[in-house]
Amino acid sequence: MNHILHVVGARPNFVKAAPVLRAIRQRGMRQTLVHTGQHYDRNMSDVFFTQLEIPEPDFNLEVGSGSHAVQTAEIMKRFEPVVLDSKPDMTLVYGDVNSTVAAALVCSKLLIPVGHVEAGLRSFDRTMPEEINRIVTDRLSDVLFTPSEDGDANLLREGVPKEKIHLVGNVMIDSLIQLLPAARSCPKNGFPERFALVTLHRPSNVDDGDMLREILDSLTKVSRELEIVFPVHPRTRQRIAEFGLDSQNLRLLDPVPYIEFLSLQSRAAVVITDSGGIQEETTYLGVPCLTLRPNTERPITVSLGTNILVGDDRGSLITELAKILEGKQKKGVRPPLWDGHAGDRIADILLEM
Ligand code: UD1
Repeated sequence: MNHILHVVGARPNFVKAAPVLRAIRQRGMRQTLVHTGQHYDRNMSDVFFTQLEIPEPDFNLEVGSGSHAVQTAEIMKRFEPVVLDSKPDMTLVYGDVNSTVAAALVCSKLLIPVGHVEAGLRSFDRTMPEEINRIVTDRLSDVLFTPSEDGDANLLREGVPKEKIHLVGNVMIDSLIQLLPAARSCPKNGFPERFALVTLHRPSNVDDGDMLREILDSLTKVSRELEIVFPVHPRTRQRIAEFGLDSQNLRLLDPVPYIEFLSLQSRAAVVITDSGGIQEETTYLGVPCLTLRPNTERPITVSLGTNILVGDDRGSLITELAKILEGKQKKGVRPPLWDGHAGDRIADILLEM
């Protein structure tokens, strides 16, 4: 392999691609970076490039928001000429966002090999748009880099040949390890000593008015025991306003840059979230995590880590929180290969190919 093209589009992609870009650069291979522009707000995109020291993208497709079909199609239309022009030996795609599946579709039809970083994860819930993206991307990929053994097992069960699968560990944890010292020295900025950190953006939680109202009511209940710090995704901010919901007892912030968010996670008494990556980061940090989803594509965070799925059972959220407040939280261990070197392993495999 001489020339690798990377496609990133949304906030979690930036965190995953940064260590791979660095490792490939250190090995002297040529690389091209394409930003689809799926996330475009400064605090959802630029800040991440700066803090994670990601080079300026060679191409920005500026697709912006839209329905799933519109966003995916727009990325495909704008990405195809870039691939035809760049002629990479392989395209690397990350995670499970619309940019991931769109780029995989384009490259597979142009007979450009596709490598999928964070392959094999399955929630077995096809109502989640990301699950569709994961299944299709893995099906089209030629090289599949998995973060944990459950990923290998899922792919083998789906008939993916063993030779295509490489267990490399978790690239998101590479970034975490790299920037944790900076996060630990972040000023506390008037945040309380003890707080619950909340994030919410899944369509199933925030696009349904009744569901979002119930969640905010439960969080308001929690806030009587523990202050809530809640950096709000733009999608969730829009929905709270649209449904006219009450959030006055919650400390709502704009989306927070990576290092500051890591600092908040590492100091939180508990994290309440519906994100995928945050389930992994809290497991690495040993911070209790209550996940507002009925399932997870990252089961290792439950079997080994600090994660508990509370689904939409508000009673269970309150019970688990009480345990944490009494100091009886679930203890976890770090999964194998979540050691800061996943990007190096990927780059070494590509160099050999
Ligand atoms: C996307 C991913 C999701 C990932 C999340 C991380 C898909 C299907 N979903 O969800 O898996 O966990 O990113 O954040 O790819 N918006 C802004 N500014 C931005 C970006 C978005 O205002 O920079 C608003 C727009 O109104 C947009 C909405 O947020 O319509 C949703 O953005 P979109 O990229 O469609 O999906 P996310 O919810 O961010």
